[in-house]
Amino acid sequence: MPQTFTQPAPQDDILVQIQSEALILLQDCESENTFDVAIARFVFQHLPEPIAAAQAIWHLLKPGGKLVIIDPDDELYGIVQPPVPELASILEKYGEVQARRGGNRQIGRLLWRILAQTGFLPCALETIAFHSDELGMEAFREHLDPERFVPLVKAGSLSEQTFTKTCLSCEAFLASPEPFILMLWLMACGQKPEVAEEKIE
Ligand SMILES: C[S@@+](CC[C@H](N)C(=O)[O-])C[C@H]1O[C@@H](n2cnc3c(N)ncnc32)[C@H](O)[C@@H]1O
Repeated sequence: MPQTFTQPAPQDDILVQIQSEALILLQDCESENTFDVAIARFVFQHLPEPIAAAQAIWHLLKPGGKLVIIDPDDELYGIVQPPVPELASILEKYGEVQARRGGNRQIGRLLWRILAQTGFLPCALETIAFHSDELGMEAFREHLDPERFVPLVKAGSLSEQTFTKTCLSCEAFLASPEPFILMLWLMACGQKPEVAEEKIE
C-alpha cells in the first residue's frame, strides 16, 4: 500500500554546495591540456552554470580533445506501453524541483548550443535508445519504483492522491501481459579546436 508522508522537505543547500565544489575542483585542476576525452553523464542537467562547467572541462582537454555530454530531455522521455498516465505530471514535477535548484531536465535540446557557446566545435547530437525487449524489464524497474517519487511527495510537489494513482498505474503496467518501455537520452559531442589561438578565456 502507498505510504503517507509527514517529513519536511529536504533543503537544497547540499546540491548548491556540490555545484561549488565541483567547479572549484575543475578550476583548480592543474591538468590543463591533458585529456583526450571527457564524458559527463547526467551531470549537466543539474548545473545552474553549464557553460562555466563546459569551460572548465575545455581547459582540461588537449587541443582536438572531445567533450561528450549525455543527458535527458524530458520532452523525449520515451514510450511506456500500457501507458502510465501520471508519468507526464511526475516528469513535470521533477523538472520543477530540478529547476528550483538551478538545473534543467530539458537540457538535451541545449547541448549543442552549450558546446558551441563554450568554444567547442559541436560534431554530433545523437539519441541513445534502450528498451525492455532488449534489456529486460528488470533494468527499468527502478524508473517505475514508487520509492523514486517519494521525495516529490515529501517536498510537497506531488499530492498523495496522485502518488497513490501513480503507484497503481505502475503496478498495472508491470503486471500487464506484454509491458514495453523505451527510454531516450541525448548525447552531444564537441571537439576542442586544434588551433591554439581559438582557445577561450
Ligand atoms: C545521476 S548522478 C550521475 C552520476 C554519474 N555521472 C553517472 O553517469 O552515473 C548525478 C551527478 O550529478 C552530480 N550533481 C548533482 N547536482 C550537482 C550540482 N549542482 N553540481 C555539480 N554536480 C552535481 C551528483 O554529484 C552526481 O554525481
